[in-house]
Amino acid sequence: MLKIDLTGKKAFIAGIGDDQGYGWAIAKALAEAGAEILIGTWTPILKIFKMSWDGGKFDQSRKLSDGSLMEYAKVYPLDATFDVKADVPQEILENKRYKGAEGYTISEVAASIEKDFGKIDILVHSLANAPEVKKPLLETSRKGYLAAMSSSAYSFISLLQHLGPHMNKGGAALNLSYMASERAVPGYGGGMSSAKAALESDTRTLAWEAGREWGLRVNCVSAGALGSRAAKAIGFIEAMIAYAMENAPLSKELSAEEVGQTAAFLLSPMASAITGTTIYVDNGMHAMGVAVDSPTLNPACERTESLQS
Ligand SMILES: NC(=O)c1ccc[n+]([C@@H]2O[C@H](COP(=O)([O-])OP(=O)(O)OC[C@H]3O[C@@H](n4cnc5c(N)ncnc54)[C@H](O)[C@@H]3O)[C@@H](O)[C@H]2O)c1
Repeated sequence: MLKIDLTGKKAFIAGIGDDQGYGWAIAKALAEAGAEILIGTWTPILKIFKMSWDGGKFDQSRKLSDGSLMEYAKVYPLDATFDVKADVPQEILENKRYKGAEGYTISEVAASIEKDFGKIDILVHSLANAPEVKKPLLETSRKGYLAAMSSSAYSFISLLQHLGPHMNKGGAALNLSYMASERAVPGYGGGMSSAKAALESDTRTLAWEAGREWGLRVNCVSAGALGSRAAKAIGFIEAMIAYAMENAPLSKELSAEEVGQTAAFLLSPMASAITGTTIYVDNGMHAMGVAVDSPTLNPACERTESLQS
């Protein structure tokens, strides 16, 4: 039987804050394949994440196919907008949601992982943030745009830069993008579309550089709409899910598990010749050039439907 086997591999997944998002689903698929799971959780929500985990809130979602519960080896506080301790501004140091937290910049987390576990095999970047996401690009400030690029795109470069030297040859990194990187999606603002375009371009360049430097593969999954906590903050995710159901080639809701499984494949030796690629896991939505539920298209769509019958 052809099987994804990640037994003995260590995976660091940056960007898990609850059991609703893509990071969680990827961690679960990697755990199903036998990998050891290390988690990076945004510093301000780490306490609530741990409390929820320890209090059993995620128990149902933690269930693996053999009946056991997914475990993590360690969860690290992470703020992916900062590379080194000196980058952290006073207002963050004094922020009550950061009080008591230490070692959450990318270089510090990478050093802690190396100290705790030695070399790892898998890096997943499943995080994004844009303070002005609800503003159209045309109204986005320079500060808001650069903040989106910093936490949603540069953070991947920095994670790979700092963790790459501590990864085993043959390992792999993955990030998550969205179709708004290459098609206009009204409402996905604040520079998030630009950050996703950067992420996809960086995937190609970093595949070349990390491939030659450390023998690592670097890929991207362009995922369809999912009602995660981050997506709900944008404000129209339910409409995007309904739109995809109406207009994608596969008329079904996309599950986070489908993204998790593709990620597990891309991060496994089964994908040993795949690098520098963006793979769509979106029920085929990206392939469409028109919205078939548009009343303007009624005559053409009726013809397609008559072909089906
Ligand atoms: N939900 C969708 O419809 C969708 C579609 C395509 C791609 N994606 C991408 O998937 C990835 C995961 O998002 P999700 O939708 O599953 O939501 P999510 O809420 O599960 O994950 C986003 C995570 O990013 C974390 N985060 C934000 N700023 C951070 C920072 N500075 N440092 C560290 N962590 C930080 C949040 O705490 C959260 O845990 C993102 O890159 C997102 O853009 C989502």
